[in-house]
Amino acid sequence: IILGAHQPPNLFANASSMMQPSQRRHMSRNLFLSELSQYVRKLLEKLTRTIEPESRLLSFGSTANGFSLRNSDMDLCCLIDSDQPPLAASDLVTMLGDLLERETKFHVKPLPYARIPIIKLSLGPSQGLPYGIACDIGFENRLALENTRLLLSYASVDPTRVRTMVLFLKVWSKRRKINSPYRGTLSSYGYVLLVIYFLVHVKNPPVLPNLQQIPPLRPISHEDMHFGEHNIWFFDDIELLRQRWRSSNTQSVAELLIDFFKYYSRDFSYNTGVASIRAGLLKKESKGWLNDFDGSRYSETSRDRNRLCIEDPFETNYNVARTVTKDGLYTIRGEFMRASRILATRPERAINALAQLCE
Ligand code: GTP
Ligand code: MG
Repeated sequence: IILGAHQPPNLFANASSMMQPSQRRHMSRNLFLSELSQYVRKLLEKLTRTIEPESRLLSFGSTANGFSLRNSDMDLCCLIDSDQPPLAASDLVTMLGDLLERETKFHVKPLPYARIPIIKLSLGPSQGLPYGIACDIGFENRLALENTRLLLSYASVDPTRVRTMVLFLKVWSKRRKINSPYRGTLSSYGYVLLVIYFLVHVKNPPVLPNLQQIPPLRPISHEDMHFGEHNIWFFDDIELLRQRWRSSNTQSVAELLIDFFKYYSRDFSYNTGVASIRAGLLKKESKGWLNDFDGSRYSETSRDRNRLCIEDPFETNYNVARTVTKDGLYTIRGEFMRASRILATRPERAINALAQLCE
């Protein structure tokens, strides 16, 4: 499907295209999707190397941190290891965009002059791929690779509760149409940070430790801890952590979800607070993140950027929820309240209530 007339390589033929439809139904959907994303990544890497031989394409986002749904996009990051001065990202986007247009069946949209230059690729739904494929290729986005690793580490500390909560929240927010940063609501990344903030800082006893505050086992140089001015240290020895970290919080996923919705519908201080998984609850004022109450000195746009404040774990001067507008926040809070109400009135039928939440 992707290469049109070209022959698909064996790599992919193994897993799915040699199978009969009835066999394919038995193959786990996740396995199919991870093979598919690996195949697409390798194919795109091969094509990218015809332009920049020293480049690597790495997966980040939900296909790399275990939070993907069947209709998730694929996020790819191109790293160039060369000693030579690399091509400017905008040139690379234009050249690679042309190449992908010629060599693949993807619909290609290069955005060379965006704040972060990317190439957007998409493939419409087809019989073998009912959700099609959407893929973004960015360049040198090392912080995104690191925050993907951080989220993966959190998911690995308590896989059952963290993954189930995150996946539920993602399905729910997509179904309730409050997962569109381009339309004034919050990205998936933002919802995942809200879940981790809740499990690390709101729940008492906490479900998760704060990985960014656990000191390293041996001294680490300043360079190794930082990327540019950003401190990217976090404790990533998950095997050791699993042996040593035992949360005394024994709540079930359903109980945690009920508390999550309750907290974000009435307890989180939207007007003054910043949710930081690194440092707990911070003040908008102390970060200089202005909102409605800062008077008339600021433009409507700057006020709209900080309605909801979620600090990025590494880029601490960056509000991940800056896309959330006044109306967007009103809708999101309304949805948290609706969810909380449905769960509170039907505690004895929690499973049905959770299903009803997404309708
Ligand atoms: P789905 O695609 O909806 O399944 O979720 P996702 O987990 O892939 O999230 P999304 O596509 O929103 O973001 C992909 C990755 O990009 C995240 O895991 C982050 O690594 C990175 N990212 C997304 N938004 C931001 C942002 O606002 N700031 C930073 N620093 N990174 C971001
Ligand atoms: Mg994604």
